[in-house]
Amino acid sequence: MGGGSALCKHMVTDQPNVPRLLDPTQLKPFVDPLPLPPVLRASDGKALRVDMRETEQRLHRDLSPTRVWTYGGCMPGPTIEVQSGKTVRIDWRNELPRKHFLPIDHRIHGAELDKPEVRAIVHVHGASVPTASDGYPEDWYVPGQSRLHTYPNKQDAAALWYHDHAMGINRLNIYAGMFGNLILRDEHERSLGLPQGEQEIPLTLSDRLLTTDAQLYYPVSGNSEAPWVSEVFGNAMLVNGALLPYLDVQPRRYRFRVLNASNARFFNLKLRDGRSFQQIGSDQGLLPAPVTQHSVFIAPGERVDLVIDFAALAGQQIELLNDALPIMQLRIGSGRVRDTSEVPAVLRDVPRMPESAATQQRMLTLDSYQDCVAEPMLMLLAGKRWHEPVTEKPVLGSTEIWNLINLTDDSHPIHLHMVRFQILDRRPFDSGEWMESQTVRYTGPAQLPSAGEAGWKDVVQAWPGMITRIIVRFDGYVGRYAWHCHLLEHEANEMMRPFEVVAA
Ligand code: C2O
Ligand code: CU
Repeated sequence: MGGGSALCKHMVTDQPNVPRLLDPTQLKPFVDPLPLPPVLRASDGKALRVDMRETEQRLHRDLSPTRVWTYGGCMPGPTIEVQSGKTVRIDWRNELPRKHFLPIDHRIHGAELDKPEVRAIVHVHGASVPTASDGYPEDWYVPGQSRLHTYPNKQDAAALWYHDHAMGINRLNIYAGMFGNLILRDEHERSLGLPQGEQEIPLTLSDRLLTTDAQLYYPVSGNSEAPWVSEVFGNAMLVNGALLPYLDVQPRRYRFRVLNASNARFFNLKLRDGRSFQQIGSDQGLLPAPVTQHSVFIAPGERVDLVIDFAALAGQQIELLNDALPIMQLRIGSGRVRDTSEVPAVLRDVPRMPESAATQQRMLTLDSYQDCVAEPMLMLLAGKRWHEPVTEKPVLGSTEIWNLINLTDDSHPIHLHMVRFQILDRRPFDSGEWMESQTVRYTGPAQLPSAGEAGWKDVVQAWPGMITRIIVRFDGYVGRYAWHCHLLEHEANEMMRPFEVVAA
């Protein structure tokens, strides 16, 4: 992967020192129960407190503990539960060590790279929140400091998540373990009778490179001039921070809140026997109606909400796969249980936003460049770096169509902070003609979003060779926010731009 394919003359190819890596197929699978992060609930008016800190965590029974950086002492961090319409304050305290244990790349663009090495800022992904509490990348703070963020939660039920967003190093902080779920609930969703309580399970996916002594390895490139790597793919697929765990379930329906928290890996989830399940939601909550799926393809940053009915599988075991590779096992108890949960045929109303509502069309390229002299490959949005002046200034309450013109060879999961949007379509185009004259010539028919993408989204997979169109209403708050590729290495170098919502 990586857009620039030309070989650079200046490329220095010292072999980086790669430690010996673990072979997970040598481990005994399904010996650890799936870890369920503790649940944190806001109780009236009091701020929640979450400490960022280093700890050690065992990822598999037969491995020694792994050094990780966490929220609240576990990876993933605690699952924070909030109610729609109820304001919650969270005091995020940076209690991290003063030195990073992963390699800081002092050449990453725009990262203000010198000191301090360790900085952090929390972003709640998918939250509609004033900019002061959004976790703007430059609002980072150092160990010993904390920030009190206020979340109004004026939005529908959805599976949000929180993670680090500190300029230039969030890919390392997240890789080190700094992510967790934030579940927003509302009355409407409660009234549906979906599986809940012990039958509602978070599944947070993340891949990591583990060494033979079970420590995290973050790669550097062979180019000593440019240590940045354009993607990181792990040898170990973790579910809730565990390697090949199992989950005991009863023969009834379960709801799985799936999050892909990986730096760069897309997951293609399915069940071992190819049996179908239902997808009931995506990034920003419930779909209009359940969708029968045999697999779901999830980019970094995306969430899917799945219901699996184990009633016909009493006494059996079934593996959850990423492509052909098992990542966890489900063990279905025998005997009978009464299942009173339901999956209604209509979940909620998601009115399609008409294109005619848009007062602004933006043409935004996704680019990659290879600069051979002293810099790593660059990946940009709209041809600009992070620190260039803001060019996207939507008016509060207005509707816009963003055309994501992908000129690279990769699929990029593009995320906008603060807002939710709908996918209009994806359509193949002539990229040569675009580069020559900035004109769009489509070369094939438009493809509508799949049924599983047809709800409210906050990440869209912008496919190579395509113009992906999203329609966004900039409701919420005025101020400066970020939009970026959620492949964290791309984001760092530097596929991230500010946008500013301005008053009408
Ligand atoms: Cu998941 Cu800018 O965030
Ligand atoms: Cu990207």
